[in-house]
Amino acid sequence: MPEEVQKGLEDVVALSSRITFIDGKEGRLVYEGYDIRELAEHSTFEEVAYLLWYGRLPTTTQLEDLRGRLRPLRTLPEELRALLDRLPATASPMDALRTAVSALATLEPGETRTGASSIGGALRLTAALPTIISEQHRRRQGLAPLPVRPELDHAAHTLYQLTGREGTPLENRALDVALILHADHELNASTFAARVTASTLSDLYSAVTSAIGTLKGPLHGGANERVMELLRSVANDEEIEAAVQQRLARHERIMGFGHRVYKVEDPRATILRDWSRRLGEAAGNLTWYRRLRRVEEVVHREKGLYPNVDLYSGSVYTLLGIPDDLFTPLFAVSRVAGWTAHVLEEYEDLRLIRPVAQYIGPNHLTYVPIEQRTA
Ligand code: ACO
Repeated sequence: MPEEVQKGLEDVVALSSRITFIDGKEGRLVYEGYDIRELAEHSTFEEVAYLLWYGRLPTTTQLEDLRGRLRPLRTLPEELRALLDRLPATASPMDALRTAVSALATLEPGETRTGASSIGGALRLTAALPTIISEQHRRRQGLAPLPVRPELDHAAHTLYQLTGREGTPLENRALDVALILHADHELNASTFAARVTASTLSDLYSAVTSAIGTLKGPLHGGANERVMELLRSVANDEEIEAAVQQRLARHERIMGFGHRVYKVEDPRATILRDWSRRLGEAAGNLTWYRRLRRVEEVVHREKGLYPNVDLYSGSVYTLLGIPDDLFTPLFAVSRVAGWTAHVLEEYEDLRLIRPVAQYIGPNHLTYVPIEQRTA
């Protein structure tokens, strides 16, 4: 029995994976051998999803084939739409998404759900997640669902579904890059949850349901919403430093900073900082960008912490017209490619994930009959 507990499994090597490499000291993120900076510059989300699922970049024909398979899968079964209709208008989008993915499993053919053929489930979930989020978001506002637009690529279609309008080429590209950047991140908490579920030989939909529940927490997926709360809490740029200082004085964490693996700037933050500025310039609104730069300066000076992916992503989504409470569901739209790639990898080389705990409770107590117990 190991003596040392690594709290939060920090630095514990839990399994081998060929999918994603993070160099936390150099600030590098690599999918299947390709640097994220190159992928963000040249590729598309569909291309990256193919890369994660198949381990190699697609040819033109393979990419077109993938796009052709994804598009019809955007449409939801009527039973699922009816279920979304019955959720209370107060349901949080992440609760609704987790429920919908779980329900979708009951409507899908069994062979798309486990083992090697669950690639069918990976395609289905990747295509359907934006539609689920869009339909629930619109229903709770009393709006009719949007018709699916098969001619749009994944990022453009996602932006259309989340905002109800077609984006400009710059906006569509910004979202495509954000989706690429969030598609995988090695053994982050939600991916680990997905792999633990798959390691019991459970199905892909169960694994993704576990992952969505794990992503929901503010230390993982919800941080960018809280970054926007901070930026909006002040009336002008001059007040932002004091707002950060107050939070630090109360020993509060500043969302969008720090990372378990990166000890330098998260490379995704570097790319999103640039997109936050580009979109701000295009919209004639650099407020968020200016405030974020100031927050960065203060947090680095006071705590020596570097930005993570969540610092700038909220401003990018806000400039794209995406409401705050859809930020985490949007994270899932992208990360589902990584979750499903990891589940497929888990099925290839399966070993039940079952660590051990260091027992710190009492031992050898004598059972006392209930009538003899005192409070
Ligand atoms: N603001 C203020 N202080 C911080 C922050 C922060 N954002 N992050 C870490 N610290 C401090 C902690 O208070 C702690 O200080 P102490 O030793 O004086 O108590 C020290 O840095 C180490 O913190 P840990 O929590 O041990 O570091 P860990 O590796 O567990 O944390 C985490 C990583 C959870 C991301 C943390 O940095 C955090 O809470 N950040 C804010 C939330 C956030 O931005 N999450 C998004 C992460 S990226 C993603 O999931 C997509």
